[in-house]
Amino acid sequence: MSAAIIDGKAFAAGLRGKVASQAASFARAAGRPAGLAVVIVGEDPASHVYVRSKHKAMAEAGMKSFDHRLPADVGQDDLVALVQQLNADPVVDGILVQLPLPPQIDEQAIIATIDPDKDVDGFHVVNAGRLAVGLHGFVPCTPLGCLMLLKERLGDLSGLDAVVVGRSNIVGKPMAALLTAENCTVTIAHSRTRDLAAVVRRADIVVAAVGRPEMIRGDWIKPGATVIDVGINRIDAGEGKTRLVGDAAFGEASQVAAAITPVPGGVGPMTIAVLLRNTLVAAHRNAGVGYEKGAL
Ligand code: GUN
Repeated sequence: MSAAIIDGKAFAAGLRGKVASQAASFARAAGRPAGLAVVIVGEDPASHVYVRSKHKAMAEAGMKSFDHRLPADVGQDDLVALVQQLNADPVVDGILVQLPLPPQIDEQAIIATIDPDKDVDGFHVVNAGRLAVGLHGFVPCTPLGCLMLLKERLGDLSGLDAVVVGRSNIVGKPMAALLTAENCTVTIAHSRTRDLAAVVRRADIVVAAVGRPEMIRGDWIKPGATVIDVGINRIDAGEGKTRLVGDAAFGEASQVAAAITPVPGGVGPMTIAVLLRNTLVAAHRNAGVGYEKGAL
């Protein structure tokens, strides 16, 4: 069997289009565009690439982004002061502090400073808690994007066995909470899981978020399962070239699964699309502008 390819790039483009049209209505109603402040510290090239694409996507959706760049040696107090200033700024609806932060900065303390209602990354403990108990709040962009792809593909997820490989605060844990809320039977597996292959083999839904290139092999996948690959790993392709691979061995897994996300072009494009969506939701709440249920 050859798996259907779940086209995250196309789904994300559709979501971005929907956000853009809602963003235009928001701007008319509020008299200003929805705004996202993006804070980046230091010169990490990968982080700068991500942040550039966030600014570009915001502009393309007709929303405003505010670019805050701080030197790598910035002190904790200065960074806290900036976040507090953004919390108080009425035209800033969402705040994103790009991670990782340099070692002198207490990352959790910075995240804790962000107003939970502007925390469009969904990293604040208040939003993690809201997700855990089923209250409205901001959900981290990557797992929410994975859930959108799963629901688009499978419809109702009730009763399905889901295995999330990886237990990070950004992907694994919120993904497990989202799938639990969809009535899946959820297992969180990780590097210490005994007989990981056997655990993954039980799953109707596999979410691979371990950060290890091609770790999930084809013979770990139950025939007919749906595989969502969150990994983005750059590996040596010989002759001085590199290529991107996921956490699942795509060639093998796609022989067994019913559907699978490719890398690149699967989960990756969803992260920014959901960030735009979360920012627009924040803007409506912040400005007291209503929107139709289900429109975002
Ligand atoms: N670094 C890598 N991914 C992310 C993300 O989604 N949000 C933030 N703030 N930092 C990141």
